[in-house]
Amino acid sequence: MEIIIAKNYRELSRLAAEAVIRQIRRKPRTVLGLPTGHTPIELYHDLVAAYQTKKISFRYVSTFNLDEYVGLNQTDPRGYHSYMRKNLFSKVDLKPENEHILDGRASNVKKECARFEAQLRKVGGIDLLILGIGKDGHIGFNEPGSKINSKTRTVKLSESTRRANAKYFGSAAKVPRRALTMGIGTIMQAKKIILLAHGKEKAAIVKQALSGKISAKIPASFLRQHRNLIVILDKAAASKLK
Ligand code: PGA
Repeated sequence: MEIIIAKNYRELSRLAAEAVIRQIRRKPRTVLGLPTGHTPIELYHDLVAAYQTKKISFRYVSTFNLDEYVGLNQTDPRGYHSYMRKNLFSKVDLKPENEHILDGRASNVKKECARFEAQLRKVGGIDLLILGIGKDGHIGFNEPGSKINSKTRTVKLSESTRRANAKYFGSAAKVPRRALTMGIGTIMQAKKIILLAHGKEKAAIVKQALSGKISAKIPASFLRQHRNLIVILDKAAASKLK
């Protein structure tokens, strides 16, 4: 594990974007694993800028998103299909057939998760996976209690996660109770992982994940067993690390 402490959110975003840009330049057919949420917004902004200035093309890139709420339409502005369209997909030359996001409205959820895993296998797995971390230590929507070998599946969202996402839905009660998420086992198979955290409200969980006991109580702690993990923090998120 390599830990990089950036000056601030801007530098964190730039460092993460540079890693993605290097990866795509080295391997145009890169398979990316992508997060949503507040943390990667400026990373996506920088990737769009890199595309616009012709530093990279997404023409041969494939993407696999980490998660999606159960029950939201693909056009629902609070869902992750909309988030990805708005922040990245509509602004770069990624081919729609190479974008993969779990369908939260699938009638057969088990089949949908199996389909996602099969698509991932077909492209040879994720080359570079970017992750955020929840205040409860989740990665994707793998909430505390998730097993290290878990596959893509439906999960019940924790109260902490529903509270954290209340801002997008008006209240915690309106946040969907369930989601589909890439499993931890699936995440651990990525060839390279970059974990991002910024802000002081992530400092306590970052400390637990990076220096506490490795356990399902803090799913992000499992990442320390990955052979190619880079953690990029801003100073505030790193403030409780020794
Ligand atoms: P955030 O979410 O980037 O909005 O803080 C991170 C996460 O829940 O994984």
